[in-house]
Amino acid sequence: MEEHLSVGRVAGLAGVTVRTLHHYDRIGLVQPSARTPAGYRAYAAGDVERLREVLAYRRLGFGLREIAELVDDPATDAVAHLHRLRGLLLEQRDRAAAMVTAIDKELETRAMGKRTTPEEQLKMFGAQLYETIGSAYPATRGTEPRIAARVWDALGDARTVLNVGAGTGSYEPPDRDVTAVEPSAVMRAQRPPDAAPCVAAAAEKLPFEDGSFDAAMAFSTVHHWRDPIAGLREMRRVARRVVVFTHDSSDSGWRQRFWLTRDYLPEITGLVAGRPSVDRLADAIGARREPVLIPWDCADGFLEAYWRRPEAYLEEHVRRAVSVWTRVGPRAEQRAVHRLRDDLSSGRWTERNRELLALDTAELGLRLLVAE
Ligand SMILES: C[S@@+](CC[C@H](N)C(=O)[O-])C[C@H]1O[C@@H](n2cnc3c(N)ncnc32)[C@H](O)[C@@H]1O
Repeated sequence: MEEHLSVGRVAGLAGVTVRTLHHYDRIGLVQPSARTPAGYRAYAAGDVERLREVLAYRRLGFGLREIAELVDDPATDAVAHLHRLRGLLLEQRDRAAAMVTAIDKELETRAMGKRTTPEEQLKMFGAQLYETIGSAYPATRGTEPRIAARVWDALGDARTVLNVGAGTGSYEPPDRDVTAVEPSAVMRAQRPPDAAPCVAAAAEKLPFEDGSFDAAMAFSTVHHWRDPIAGLREMRRVARRVVVFTHDSSDSGWRQRFWLTRDYLPEITGLVAGRPSVDRLADAIGARREPVLIPWDCADGFLEAYWRRPEAYLEEHVRRAVSVWTRVGPRAEQRAVHRLRDDLSSGRWTERNRELLALDTAELGLRLLVAE
């Protein structure tokens, strides 16, 4: 006969109160599958496994209703839960480690009787983000040759090029004299050995004289800058020509047009609130705006890349290489993934997005800003 544990024993092992277990039972979250002859709750191995999942999601900050949805999902077995929990915990650990480092630095600064600037205090949420998530970047991020060709074309005859927010250097033109700028040490460390020389600095304060470069470029980075307008003006100051690849996050440009942000990640609105519009960015440097269509098989896994391959967003490694998923937090992420998985298996996603399946490229609000 299968061995059962009493409610007191389970509570003791799990470090929760018997009242909590009674509550979980009443709301149907973890119901012991048996009773002792005297009528007491008795937990079988499967009940304990479910409780372990519930407690782990709870510790990650999920609400009881969300946890119920997660643990009741028939498509996720115990091993899949363990993988998902492991990923979420590692991410939380890395995020906490980055914050501890930042706090230690601030304590040191204060111990020396100095004050930290608002910029330093907020650093852990900006470029610091890439110190945390940067190591997951190369898994799916790289050069998309058709978009690279557009950027390189826009650089015109520039011989010297500054690449700001360069990351691992995916879009650096191979045939020009490139200097990279990248504030995150984790990203700098992942640049290939033969990549262009890289300076540790931020866009808002470029350590170069006026007019030092023929052109300056910034790819998929402006939305991370503390002050995008100041950064773009800096690029304009140090270079004759400026080329920026970014997205139009307005309702019509992106939020309502792209099914992922529209139907699954409404939290994105909070992330882009207060950010300058693509028109303001362009106007700040007198740039023209050119739409960039995304090929259906886009080789660089940025947020919009998988518009015709929705299953990709169910993959942990795909999401970890795109900062939005970390910035919305684990709850919104899991809810979005859960709903998308349901809609894919029920056919609802296809019903809603059927017209996309016939397209080879999509206009999803991505823009090239070119100032000459
Ligand atoms: C999505 S990655 C893009 C990297 C690279 N341009 C590419 O396309 O592969 C965004 C990069 O912007 C950098 N970044 C964040 N804040 C920045 C700032 N204030 N100035 C310059 N770069 C910044 C991050 O560290 C990160 O490497």
